[in-house]
Amino acid sequence: MKDNLAYATTSASAVSSDADDAPDLPPKEFLRDLKRGLARPQKIISPKYFYDAQGSSLFDRICDLPEYYPTRTEMAILHKHAREIALHIGPHAEIIEFGSGSMDKVRVLLDALDRPRRYVPIDISESHLLDAAQRMRLAYPALEVEPLVADYTQVLVLPPDEPPQGRRMGFFPGSTLGNFEPQDALLFMQTCAKALAGGALILGVDLVKNPDLLHAAYNDAQGVTADFNRNVLVRANRELGASFQIDQFAHSAFYNAPYQRIEMHLVSTCQQTVSVGGATFRFSEGETLHTENSYKFTLDGLHQLALRAGFTPGQNWIDSDHTFCLLWLDAPPSRSHA
Ligand code: AVJ
Repeated sequence: MKDNLAYATTSASAVSSDADDAPDLPPKEFLRDLKRGLARPQKIISPKYFYDAQGSSLFDRICDLPEYYPTRTEMAILHKHAREIALHIGPHAEIIEFGSGSMDKVRVLLDALDRPRRYVPIDISESHLLDAAQRMRLAYPALEVEPLVADYTQVLVLPPDEPPQGRRMGFFPGSTLGNFEPQDALLFMQTCAKALAGGALILGVDLVKNPDLLHAAYNDAQGVTADFNRNVLVRANRELGASFQIDQFAHSAFYNAPYQRIEMHLVSTCQQTVSVGGATFRFSEGETLHTENSYKFTLDGLHQLALRAGFTPGQNWIDSDHTFCLLWLDAPPSRSHA
């Protein structure tokens, strides 16, 4: 599925208003992406910028909301099948988690595993990552915890595993894959299959379902999701000195059925201009800043994606309401070592 709303990448056309950036410093990625995104006909910003310290705790609050079923459902699936999954993984495993967040889910796995050896949580939010990693060290004294502050959507360099012992397991829960545009999801999965060669990936994804349930999950009664959405503006004001009037942007989230995705936007409630790093951007009344796509998957679509990425799909674990799915994907050993 081709998508004209793909998030800015390094190849996206640049805005030529960077004159005020200190020439001897690399321009901040957030500043660069925000200026590029605001210059587009459909204004966009990547959802990865939600996750500063505040955004990460807002997301943790979302996970506890009655309407937000994914976290709870995935946890239940993990608890129910932890022993079986742990047997599949085997002893002395290394777990590499992409987008580790608060590390609650991996604990269910670790608790069931036979002497897990090393845990490598990768996350973009440094303070959140290091705090959570420290808690893991205290909770699992025998486990080597090696956090990696990285944007795994950009580069994926895993620490060497020498001497290789147990299985090298990727863990990518929470349906974070749904944040990627389809072609980026494929690219990431391909990179992942190579990085995990000889090991496997456990992938957790949200399934296509009744749009009413989806709508409720992204429009909670307490407005936590709205605060999470607007937090990207709060962050831009604080970190980049941007001039967003936070209360002049309304939260909007809806299911785009043909694209099988939830879209989140911030809707300008009036005509206004915003300045970001020396450039100004005009919003007309009703114009939106597109902040997130959250794709939903079918089992069929997932299998196709996994196969195209070079994985061999194995078992899957789904809740009885067909809400959420955990998939085992084998990463074939790289041929150069055969
Ligand atoms: C972390 C991307 C899986 O899409 O459900 C929650 C983020 N956005 N509520 C999701 C999110 C709004 C979440 N993911």
